[in-house]
Amino acid sequence: MAYYQTPLDVTTLSAWQALAQHRLAMQDFSMREAFSQDSERFKEFSLSSSGLFLDYSKNLIDRQTRELLVRLAREAKLQEAIEALFNGELLNASEGRPALHTALRRPVADRLPVNGVNVMPEVHRVLNQMTELVGRIHDGLWRGYSEKPITDVVNIGIGGSFLGPQLVSEALLPFAQRGVRCHYLANIDGSEFHELSASLRAETTLFIVSSKSFSTLETLKNAQAARSWYLAQGGSQADLYKHFIAVSSNREAAVEFGIREENIFPMWDWVGGRYSLWSAIGLPIALAIGMSNFKELLSGAYSMDQHFLTAPFERNMPVLLALLGVWYGNFWGAQSHAILPYDHYLRNITKHLQQLDMESNGKSVRQDGSPVSCDTGPVIWGGVGCNGQHAYHQLLHQGTQLIPADFIVPVVSYNPVADHHQWLYANCLSQSQALMLGKTRAEAEEELRGKCLPEDEVQRLAPHKVIPGNRPSNTLVLERISPRRLGALVAMYEHKVFAQSVIWGINAFDQWGVELGKELGKSVYQRLTGSNEQPAEDASTQGLIDFFRGRHRG
Ligand code: F6P
Repeated sequence: MAYYQTPLDVTTLSAWQALAQHRLAMQDFSMREAFSQDSERFKEFSLSSSGLFLDYSKNLIDRQTRELLVRLAREAKLQEAIEALFNGELLNASEGRPALHTALRRPVADRLPVNGVNVMPEVHRVLNQMTELVGRIHDGLWRGYSEKPITDVVNIGIGGSFLGPQLVSEALLPFAQRGVRCHYLANIDGSEFHELSASLRAETTLFIVSSKSFSTLETLKNAQAARSWYLAQGGSQADLYKHFIAVSSNREAAVEFGIREENIFPMWDWVGGRYSLWSAIGLPIALAIGMSNFKELLSGAYSMDQHFLTAPFERNMPVLLALLGVWYGNFWGAQSHAILPYDHYLRNITKHLQQLDMESNGKSVRQDGSPVSCDTGPVIWGGVGCNGQHAYHQLLHQGTQLIPADFIVPVVSYNPVADHHQWLYANCLSQSQALMLGKTRAEAEEELRGKCLPEDEVQRLAPHKVIPGNRPSNTLVLERISPRRLGALVAMYEHKVFAQSVIWGINAFDQWGVELGKELGKSVYQRLTGSNEQPAEDASTQGLIDFFRGRHRG
């Protein structure tokens, strides 16, 4: 039986026990002191890979912490799991599938059998299919019903069929090809459809119905609305194929919707939605930035894959970030993790990582169905800096919770305006510095005395000015955002999430919790619309249904 089918209880491992002891010894650890005592600390706790530089020196760790965390990873058989991931073993045990997003960035010459069939030629065949479509659209050869070239592409999809493509296409705006604008339609909220369609012309718009399952309610409803809108705007049923293409593993449903066979880009069940931007789900990315940039994105991710696969854990970026997450979540009681990009173009990364991390590691049972005996995935939240500094950073600095944070910042801006980028970079660094240094009572008092305040005022105000400090963060620096570096960055987080799932013994690739809401959604809808007059299972839901029905009746 494969080891992941009988996962270890991580809390019983000897490294776990040693970490629990070590945590007690670290109770009074001070990052301030560690930096003043060790001039090598920055060098010791930082590394580069695939165009990314990671400084993890501002953490509640010393060399022994790292040794013990790495020992934990070894005892949890992380290396075996990484190899199993890349070799296509059935790591998604509850769905009986491998998780082979890494195959999507591998060279064609590699061999990777899934159920006895080498998948690499098929992966590259689809890349060629994408190249052809992107070329025809960019060259104005793909024409709409009035023979005009396509100017706007609307990706209709949600979850992984939206967040990854949106992050990347918007982050790589400086690489955008002129002539094609990309839009995203995700939510079932009619206001989103209304606002977007009002800005489009049907004759020059191409819709990509992006749904692995082709059964997701929001996507199907939006696709139907788009089709009705297209017909109402003057498009004909006969020309529908010029305006609707699909990315899906459910060919029959896409054909039934009216999409031509040759315009359906395949997906495979071995690619999870939140790991799918590297597949044809990335079509809007390729349309936005061109196919050669899309391939650069893949090669950046491939470079990170090789790093993850081969670097020793002590020098392995995703593994180290995963272990730091385990350290804070399981030994310091951290419940959430902030992602703070200091770059306008990376503003959507928090949303993508939210799905990637929370849908993957929001689990309470191990691969074999036994309950976990420690906390698993954290709440991922955050947003773009400096805006966050004027909103939620106060809680990071002086709140009662320990919230580790990742700062992400490029050294070079694409849009230098006066000295804005210097200020942006300075703000990023000063936030992690402030989280780490804090302000002691003595410093607060001295500052207040410096303002010539009477002593009783100094004593009254000082507690409010004390900032605990010693709050951990990582800083990820990119020279500037490029397809390669972004590919490496996103792949790094994918691997971080996977490494954590292995340590906790959970399945990062299923999402059964999402299904219950979908099922109940149908039955609530039937009660709202009167096709089921049975009372709801609970009085609260029934009361809210009555509220809606009362309003819509009269
Ligand atoms: O509902 C969650 C989810 O299943 C995600 O995992 C997925 O990315 C999203 O829905 C969209 O699914 P699909 O691509 O099949 O429409």
